[in-house]
Amino acid sequence: MEAADVVVSLREVAGGPELLELADAHGGIWLVGGAVRDLLLGRSPGELDVVVEGDVGEVAGRLGEPVLHERFGTATVQGDGFAIDLAAPRTESYPAPGALPEVAPATLAEDIERRDFTINAIAVRLPDGEVLAEPRALADLQSGTLRVLHPGSFEDDPTRVWRMARYAGRLGFRPDEETAALAAQAGPGQTSGERIGNELRLILAEDDPSAALEALAEYCPQALPAGFSCRPERLAPALELLPADGRRDLLVLAACVAAMDTATLQRWLDDLAFPAADRDLVVASSRWVTGEPLRAAQGRAAVLRAARGAPVEAVALAGGDNAALWLEELRHLELEIGGDDLIAAGLEPGPQVGAALERALEAKAEGRCSGREEELAAALEGAGGTGA
Ligand code: CTP
Repeated sequence: MEAADVVVSLREVAGGPELLELADAHGGIWLVGGAVRDLLLGRSPGELDVVVEGDVGEVAGRLGEPVLHERFGTATVQGDGFAIDLAAPRTESYPAPGALPEVAPATLAEDIERRDFTINAIAVRLPDGEVLAEPRALADLQSGTLRVLHPGSFEDDPTRVWRMARYAGRLGFRPDEETAALAAQAGPGQTSGERIGNELRLILAEDDPSAALEALAEYCPQALPAGFSCRPERLAPALELLPADGRRDLLVLAACVAAMDTATLQRWLDDLAFPAADRDLVVASSRWVTGEPLRAAQGRAAVLRAARGAPVEAVALAGGDNAALWLEELRHLELEIGGDDLIAAGLEPGPQVGAALERALEAKAEGRCSGREEELAAALEGAGGTGA
């Protein structure tokens, strides 16, 4: 596709007609970055990034109700099924390697030159399709090449190595020789664990996170901790088993870190600013505590016992018929009776109530009881402490 055809494709994209209508009325509107790249590749873009030569707030206001980010001079407009990010052209300079950039007003050409990879350094003016691009950008897009714009790029912003891996995995692109050599030397600098963690989280959300992780391991192995496995064997069957209410991203991560020791894993996830609940889920699911007992379980009640309390991600990773049985059927099993019914029937309050409910649930799983009365009978069968 020719760069000028971007305008034609943009009409078919959510938010595109609105943006083109705005550009008809207001000069100096350029589509930039990932949206141009994706449209040129015939892919559907995520959010639409726009550089505005003019007052960002005023232009954004014509599109809808913008959220203004004063500090960066940017604005976001959310519409029906789309998000448009608007910014004035700017340069970014890095006070220290890996530090957050300092932003200054600039020309559009300078804004293009500050970017991460040539394939993201293309701007298309709306609505006339005028192109302003880094000189190698279109050829690199055609040949599938990931090329940094200058040798200090990964030092300025170490998250770009992770971005490179994400593009490599998603698009099947490869770095040119110089970019690969720079990635091989790249370290985290002063980048916060949180920013690196955000990049990992973006990779985990990709359609094929393993492809991106493999690219990272190939070009910048020092970015991943020892013992990290990019495409663990159990992952594909576990993804098949994972129900819709499971966390695919955390399952992928759990599978990849199974060989790491627990203390190191916990520290790493904390450094990367995973929320505590997500960290705990990854740690629990990656330890295989559920795996052996679940695979060895014989019969429906035993499966219920083995999987009890485990996250669905852990059970999916355990794999096999028992995991499928629990995920698809047994985990949804509910009793019609509750603890109050047992106490009303004379059972002393205490742990025996929970144990009796478990007994009833196992009986129900095995088809030995159905309905309130039979559940009650199964729960009370052999229960000590009944006043009845
Ligand atoms: N960018 C950059 N350096 C970074 C982050 C972003 O140069 N560390 C530039 C790139 O030109 C990128 C644009 O800002 O295309 C927008 O960033 P982002 O939305 O993160 O990139 P996309 O390429 O749109 O990513 P995706 O397709 O994954 O949404």
